[in-house]
Amino acid sequence: MDTSRRSFLRSLAAAPLLAPATSCGPKSSSLSPVAPSPTPPSTALPLGQLAQAAGYLYGAAVDVTGIGDAGFAAAVGTECGLITAENSLKWAALRPAADRFDFTRGDMLLNFARARGLAFRGHTLVWHSSLPSWFSSTVNAGNAEQFLVEHITTVVRHYAGSMHSWDVVNEAVDPASGRADGLRNTPWLQMLGPRYLDLAFTTAAAADPDALLCYNEYGLELGSSAAKRDATLRLLSDLRGRGMPVHALGIQGHAGGSGWPQFDAGGFAAFLRDVGRLGLRILISELDVKDNNLPAAVSARDQAVAAIYRDYLAVALADPAVIAVITWGLSDKYTWIATSAPRTDGLAVRPLPLDASFARKPAWDAIAAAFDRKTSRAVRSAVSDRHVLNPATSGPGRPISARPSGGQSDRPAVLRNRDAPKADRPFRGRYR
Ligand code: XIL
Repeated sequence: MDTSRRSFLRSLAAAPLLAPATSCGPKSSSLSPVAPSPTPPSTALPLGQLAQAAGYLYGAAVDVTGIGDAGFAAAVGTECGLITAENSLKWAALRPAADRFDFTRGDMLLNFARARGLAFRGHTLVWHSSLPSWFSSTVNAGNAEQFLVEHITTVVRHYAGSMHSWDVVNEAVDPASGRADGLRNTPWLQMLGPRYLDLAFTTAAAADPDALLCYNEYGLELGSSAAKRDATLRLLSDLRGRGMPVHALGIQGHAGGSGWPQFDAGGFAAFLRDVGRLGLRILISELDVKDNNLPAAVSARDQAVAAIYRDYLAVALADPAVIAVITWGLSDKYTWIATSAPRTDGLAVRPLPLDASFARKPAWDAIAAAFDRKTSRAVRSAVSDRHVLNPATSGPGRPISARPSGGQSDRPAVLRNRDAPKADRPFRGRYR
C-alpha cells in the first residue's frame, strides 16, 4: 500500500469522532447526523479499505470469466484486498491429463491480482469434488500418494511466494459418513487412509513455507451442526497436536436458505473460540447468502439477505482469531447460487454485496457496517488506552491497529506465544 493511502487510513482510524468517512451502514457514533442510507454514496470507502482499517482482509472469489468483464474487474479492483480462485486452481481445471498441468487460468488470476495489488488465495489442493474425468480410472491405492504429492508440490511451488494462503484440504469432515473419527469417506481416504491429511499439509508446507495453510469446511453454523463442529475441532486438534503445519481454518459460510432459522449464534461463537484456542487463525472463506426462501420483492429480499450478513458477521468478527472475510463472488452477475440454490419462482438470485450491475446493495452496507463497528471500537479503546499506556507506544503518529499482533491480542496470554501459528511470522504481502 502506498504511504499516502496508509496515512489516510491511519487518520481515519485516529479520528472516529469527526465526520464519518463513510455514510454507509449504521454508525455507532451518536454524532452521525443522518440515518443510514440504503444506497451509500459512491464516495463511501470500499470494503477492502474498511476491512483493513479494522485489521481484516476483505476479498471475493473470482473466476476468469468475471475478470474478462470490464465492469466486474473494476468492481473487484475497487472493493477487494484479496481474490480467491473460485475454480481455476481445482484439479479439474489444472489437470487436463494425468501427466499434464495447465496453469493458464490460475496465472490469469494471479496476474489480475498482481496488477491491482491484491493478495491471492489458492483453492483447493485436496477435495473429493471437481476431480478430472481421468481421475477415477487412473488413481488407485498403489499410486495415490505419488499423485497427491506430485500435484501439491507442483502447484504450490508454481505459486510459491505469491500466495497469501492455500486451502490445502477442503471438506474432509462428514459425520454422516459414519466413521468414528468423523472423516468423510472420500477417494483420498479410501486410497490412503486418514494419513492423506498429514501428507497434504506437510507437502504444501515444504513447497511454500510462506503461505498460510488452511483446512476449509462448510456447514458449521446451525443447531444441527454440533456433530460436525465437534468432529472438525477433533481433526484440527489432532493435526495441531501432532505438529502438522495447519495454520488456519477456513469457514465457508454459505448462509441463508431454508435451514437458516436454525442459525446457532452461541454454538458457532463457542466453536470459533475453541478453534482460536488451538492457535489457529480463522478466515470466513466463502460467505454468501442463499435467498431462495426469501420474499420475491427485491427490497424486502435485499434487507433479509443483509440481515443474515449482519448476524453472521456479528458473531464472526467478535472473535479475535478471525482475520478475513471473503465472499464467494462479489456481484450477483457471477454467483454459483444461481445454479446451486436457484429460486423456484425463476427470479434472479441476489446473494452478494453488489447487484448484477455492480451497484452496492444492503448486503454491502451490512458488511461495511460490521467492519466499521470494529474500527470504531478499536479506535475508541486505543484513544482511552493513551491514558494508561506508555506514550512511546501509543502516542500520535503511531499506527493504531485493531489487532497489533495479527489478531491474537484478545487471547489468553498462555495462547499468545505457545504453538504460534506460522501466520505470526512477518508476512511479505501487501495486506498480510
Ligand atoms: C463452486 C463454484 O463456485 C462453482 O462455480 C463450481 O461449479 C462448483 O464449485 N464449496 C467450495 C467451493 O469449497 O469450491 C465451491 O465452489 C462452493 C462450495
